[in-house]
Amino acid sequence: MKLILALGLCAALTLTACGEHGEPTGSVCPPTQTLTYVNFGKSFMDTYCVDCHSSTKTGAARHGAPAFHDYDTVEGVRQTIEHIDEQAAAGPNAVNTIMPEDAPKPTEAERRQLGEWLACGAP
Ligand code: HEC
Repeated sequence: MKLILALGLCAALTLTACGEHGEPTGSVCPPTQTLTYVNFGKSFMDTYCVDCHSSTKTGAARHGAPAFHDYDTVEGVRQTIEHIDEQAAAGPNAVNTIMPEDAPKPTEAERRQLGEWLACGAP
């Protein structure tokens, strides 16, 4: 209930004023997991995140994306795994849709894949 109230408030304010976090998704790395940066993570990040979160972008080109949250390399992803999980991934405990702010947005199935890939340590 508290969470729903908080989310309602966030929607009323601007995202930047809010700086909100979602919930950890509780995703687990499945024993049969096959997702890698090469076959999943890179295209996910390139499609949905690097317009703003890229080490090649500065100033206004980042559209407000915070420093040290750069997803144009797998190393950048691995540095903020928990933050990404809480902003954009889905799993048994939460479906987080705070990021990306604008279209194109990933499907829930893609968000679940993201959660699993992150839970495996973004291999
Ligand atoms: C249109 C630009 C844009 C896109 C695309 C975008 N972001 Fe963001 N991101 C932002 C901005 C702006 C903030 C700062 C928001 C705030 O402080 O409320 C942010 C903040 C974040 C944070 C830090 C939150 C924190 O304070 O811990 C994470 C993690 C994040 N984004 C992940 C992602 C991921 C993952 C994707 C792709 C699925 C993505 N973002 C796509 C603009 C973007």
